[in-house]
Amino acid sequence: DKAGHKHFMSKEIFEQPTVLAECLTHYSAGERVALPEGALDFAETDRLILVACGTAHYACSVAKYWFEQLAGLPCDVDIASEFRYREPPVSDRATALFVSQSGETADTLAALRYAQGKAARIVSVVNVPESSIARESDLALPILAGIEVGVASTKAFMNQLGVLANLAILAARQRGRIDAAREAELLETLRGLPGLINQALALEERIHKRTGKLAEARSVLFFGRGAMFPLALEGALKLKEISYIHAEGYASGELKHGPIALVDKTVPVIVMAPRDALFDKTVSNMQEVLAREGRVWLITDAEGAEIAGDGVWQTLVMPRIDPIFAPMLYAVPAQLIAYHTALHKGTDVDQPRNLAKSVTVE
Ligand code: F6R
Repeated sequence: DKAGHKHFMSKEIFEQPTVLAECLTHYSAGERVALPEGALDFAETDRLILVACGTAHYACSVAKYWFEQLAGLPCDVDIASEFRYREPPVSDRATALFVSQSGETADTLAALRYAQGKAARIVSVVNVPESSIARESDLALPILAGIEVGVASTKAFMNQLGVLANLAILAARQRGRIDAAREAELLETLRGLPGLINQALALEERIHKRTGKLAEARSVLFFGRGAMFPLALEGALKLKEISYIHAEGYASGELKHGPIALVDKTVPVIVMAPRDALFDKTVSNMQEVLAREGRVWLITDAEGAEIAGDGVWQTLVMPRIDPIFAPMLYAVPAQLIAYHTALHKGTDVDQPRNLAKSVTVE
């Protein structure tokens, strides 16, 4: 049942405020992150290893910024198919965390089995609680997104980030990096997200109009800095998957190191950048793109739009949010850009060619 939507993907994008609110309520009681006593001890662990595939891997890559910045916890992120065969050393004090919507992804399950008996603790973040990955973990944390039908993952990504954000806050508290007031403040920011996501969803009509031109492109570049970098990768993946347009995500600082060679007026450049401490650097990156006749689509907040000024091809103004959790909010325009570009192209959004919802063979 698509609940009046044209596609499951659209329904699932619009479910995000509701399912995220449910997830956040589950993982935090009022002012504190709430997990069963003793479920996780991030004070004792020396390293967090995050392993997953595809979109779930990008959720892990966002979370790395949170665990490092908030909790000072060293953090490795790996693609499951690389981790399982590389024979990486795993400390017996490490916490190994596996993220999977289906809980059945073959490479992620094999990576989990590799870490068993090596890491101190095997934790999974899954949408399907009775899945293999959940069953084989010491601790399985449900993301509570409800069934996801669209092959392109949207609400599962959002709720993976919801769980991981709570874990990073818990780690920060257990490692003595934040006090009760800061914990309450971070949780307050998270709780504000469903409302802000609703505001972002209200930009759909605007995004539909502006993606008309994007649908004609042969190649699109996404740029982001900090925790927005993995979101640039996710935006590019979504666009490739359902519109079949070639897209690449880059860290903004990498522009000069290669991708600028691709820039001309036929390659739209989507810059996802809330106004943060490094925004000025992003503006100078954009100027380099503009100087080569690149068409920049800037997604930012009102302050960012003002600083960036004229010259950009188009701007999408997002609500203001603490930059640390901005990847969760900016995931929405990334998803809507992919979805509406696909609508313009008339591709099969819910069943993209060559892709399966659950990848149970490697
Ligand atoms: C992208 C997408 C895939 C999955 C990946 C992992 O939209 O859905 O990249 O994220 O196949 O799947 P799970 O999370 O089931 O392990």
